[in-house]
Amino acid sequence: MSDKVVISSADSDTTKDTLRKIPDPCAVVIFGASGDLTERKLMPALFRLFCEGLLPESFAVVAVARSEMDSESFRQKVRAGIETYSRISPDQVNKWSAFAEGLVYHRVNYDNAEDYKALGKLLAKIDKKKDAAYNCLFYLSTPPILYPIIVDQLGKAGLSQQSGGSWRRIIIEKPFGHDLASATDLNNQVHKVFEESQVYRIDHYLGKETVQNLLVFRFANAIFEPLWNRNYIDHVQITVSEEVGLGSRAGYYDTAGIMRDVFQNHLLQLFTLTTMEPPAEFNDNALRDEKVKVLKSIRPIRPEEVTQYTVRAQYRTYRDEKGVAPGTETATFAVLKLFIDNWRWRDVPFYLRSGKALANKVTEISIHFRYVPHLMFPLPAGEQLPPNVLGLCLQPKEGMRLSFETKLPGAGMRTRSVGMTYLYEQDFGKNTLPDAYERLILDALQGDASLFTRSDEIELAWRLIDPILLGWQSKHAPFLTFYESGTRGPSKADEFIQADGRTWFV
Ligand SMILES: NC(=O)c1ccc[n+]([C@@H]2O[C@H](COP(=O)([O-])OP(=O)(O)OC[C@H]3O[C@@H](n4cnc5c(N)ncnc54)[C@H](OP(=O)(O)O)[C@@H]3O)[C@@H](O)[C@H]2O)c1
Repeated sequence: MSDKVVISSADSDTTKDTLRKIPDPCAVVIFGASGDLTERKLMPALFRLFCEGLLPESFAVVAVARSEMDSESFRQKVRAGIETYSRISPDQVNKWSAFAEGLVYHRVNYDNAEDYKALGKLLAKIDKKKDAAYNCLFYLSTPPILYPIIVDQLGKAGLSQQSGGSWRRIIIEKPFGHDLASATDLNNQVHKVFEESQVYRIDHYLGKETVQNLLVFRFANAIFEPLWNRNYIDHVQITVSEEVGLGSRAGYYDTAGIMRDVFQNHLLQLFTLTTMEPPAEFNDNALRDEKVKVLKSIRPIRPEEVTQYTVRAQYRTYRDEKGVAPGTETATFAVLKLFIDNWRWRDVPFYLRSGKALANKVTEISIHFRYVPHLMFPLPAGEQLPPNVLGLCLQPKEGMRLSFETKLPGAGMRTRSVGMTYLYEQDFGKNTLPDAYERLILDALQGDASLFTRSDEIELAWRLIDPILLGWQSKHAPFLTFYESGTRGPSKADEFIQADGRTWFV
């Protein structure tokens, strides 16, 4: 973006703390606890919260799965996972025994009512001993096909019921449905057992510092909001690019593809936070009401319009991956152009782009301002000064950068673009930001659903994505192009944005 970087670092004297209360005594019950997510993310996150003194004194984790295991072997597995996937300092190592004391493994068959009765008894026993299971957070970390089964069994065993001031909550992992009909079905099944206020649909992107910082950036600064509209913004790009290809996820990915895997959730979440109106207050419903309003204002894309609004592509070696269907047309890369039909954003294009097996791992929102209305500096015919760009970077380095024009020292009026960059790691050191799961689990324990997706939000997102997927399977589908792994993606994506007189920023 620029040839020179100006660093601005935070002034710690102006730090304003928001109140963080310690959650009530409780138990976290993880279903699918023998799996990858529990090992890599959930248990390391819980351990860090414990070490930071953010968990209540009376606290237990009940790990639930089918695998044959006892509590001691589960503890060893957790310890190994924490050592591999999280950074533990020597003083944190000392806290392991106290943490491990609260870990219990409970074997179930997910559809066996007796096993849930036994779980209920176990929770009652823990409650008696530690006063910890009166309040309970269930965490569904199994393949999604099991979600309705587990929810139903929890209901039948009476484990979802809140009585005498206790709370029962449930976190549901993504993916939440694979289209509008299945998401609505799942919502209906969940609502038979849990009130919406008990349900926390997780999208870990919302736990990232920069995503939350987007809210602070927009709504705690007076200088950006007046510019945050169609009068000053030419267009917005939101990019989620991954270096990795399929990995071991063929079974799921080949039926999902990039549109379900990234656009329906992560990209639309970033999009709504960038474009929503300022909520009157910072609470879960006020925030989510504003996101829902944006989703309702997106100009719908009909199946026959998909060529006009989308690009789809596949990395060239995708069909050679193990577990992928022969001749599969699953997209591993896509571009989606959206418009919002409201006063703030009418006719401003939003380019959402994501792909696998690309050159870099980058997640960035870039706000591209308009050209100045009249340029008084003499430039060669046909040339313009680049417009200002505000980049909000989520990966690889969390931070933000603003580009603007300056005068080059010396005679004449020569200009150049420079960037003013703020990086979290320069302020707080490397690898110090809390993991997204840490933040989100703590929020759920505290009953704050702001960074979780509400049922209407999920359904509106699918309402937008369904016709696109339908169009991609029809005669109107844009031609599936191929790109080499390790590149910036298909040339078709460049042509798509160039046709609007613009270029990709990252
Ligand atoms: N891993 C991640 O980074 C990640 C990121 C975002 C979202 N998620 C979501 O989080 C959930 C859990 O992810 P994960 O990677 O931990 O999944 P996983 O390892 O595939 O599965 C978790 C556990 O579920 C049980 N299970 C797996 N397949 C089953 C089947 N067909 N029938 C019954 N039980 C089965 C297994 O435990 P037992 O056999 O012992 O019961 C397994 O250990 C998934 O919905 C996934 O989409 C994961």
